[in-house]
Amino acid sequence: MHSNGLPSARIIGLGTALPARIMTNKDFEQIIDTTDEWIVQRTGMKVRHYVRSDEGIAEIAVEAGKKAMAAAGVEPEEIELVVLATATPEQPIPATAAIIQPALGVSNAVCFDIAGACSGFIYALQVVRQFIATGEVKTAMIIGAEALSKYSDFTDRSTCILFGDGAGAAVLRACEPGDGVLSCAWHTDGHYSDIIQMPGGGSKYPPHVKEHIEARLPFIKMRGNEVFKLAVRAFLEVCQEALGKAGVTTDEIRWFVPHQANLRIISAVGDRLGIPVERIYVNLEKVGNTSSASIPLAMGEVIDSGDLKRGDLVLMAAFGGGLTWAASVVRW
Ligand code: COA
Repeated sequence: MHSNGLPSARIIGLGTALPARIMTNKDFEQIIDTTDEWIVQRTGMKVRHYVRSDEGIAEIAVEAGKKAMAAAGVEPEEIELVVLATATPEQPIPATAAIIQPALGVSNAVCFDIAGACSGFIYALQVVRQFIATGEVKTAMIIGAEALSKYSDFTDRSTCILFGDGAGAAVLRACEPGDGVLSCAWHTDGHYSDIIQMPGGGSKYPPHVKEHIEARLPFIKMRGNEVFKLAVRAFLEVCQEALGKAGVTTDEIRWFVPHQANLRIISAVGDRLGIPVERIYVNLEKVGNTSSASIPLAMGEVIDSGDLKRGDLVLMAAFGGGLTWAASVVRW
């Protein structure tokens, strides 16, 4: 195990938030050429939550963050660092983490955003874990928050059905080595940066140019089939790497909590890892693919189910645009 005598980081509280508006497969039948049956068979998804038209990610990020602090029994002033993972920030400048600092009340925290797409939550976990290991901070918060509906292309039936909005946050605190986050494995391969992307909306094709909108550049684009094949292999390898680094086997894992991108991907990975379905947590039928919010939203449900005890081992894994992929073994 990766135990070098340095402090480890333990998740001491988790909170989630879903916007109220619901988008069902039946709703999609009204706007694109699709069926509930196709979407369920090919993805497993049934319902997603969408933010209001005048809402970004700040409101849900704050709600999740406040719940996480309450669950942890931590005062806002105790938080020294907030790392927020998102692909859909509230606005380009400043960082969403800074925008929400006053509402969270984390006045002593340094606040910044990272972009790791669907792997963002585990990237944030790994970043914060390093600051805790060096003793730079003792108590920190990570947030994954997305409003993917704002960038879904409702003229592209192969992508718009996949994405939902939501937020999840976790408070981490320094703990004894060998407790808390036992391992993190993380990777990037920019050679595939164009297979999941939003080409417009950044500095190359800014969103305020009419031609960019007409060319539908500020919308999510994905080559689903290629992503699918890469995802299964990358998930598998990164899970094995995280398990190896933690020195544990799949038999010891109480819950496998994967990024909720597609039920067929999750089943294929679960099968190959030899983790039975009753130990794999799936909630994509209720929330869709919420990118960096996906893992904390699923973790929130695991906690609410009451089926997670102190000391249980959880394997989290994600895969997304970048390409990025990451996994972590956590002792609860
Ligand atoms: N409803 C009905 N038909 C649809 C459809 C929809 N919403 N979307 C696509 N189709 C059609 C396609 O047009 C295609 O028709 P054709 O054969 O006549 O050309 C057919 O279904 C098969 O399309 P294909 O893209 O091969 O489907 P698929 O089985 O690969 O499923 C995804 C598509 C997007 C669900 C799947 O590829 C996927 O989930 N990929 C991975 C996504 C992922 O993991 N993302 C994670 C990173 S965020």
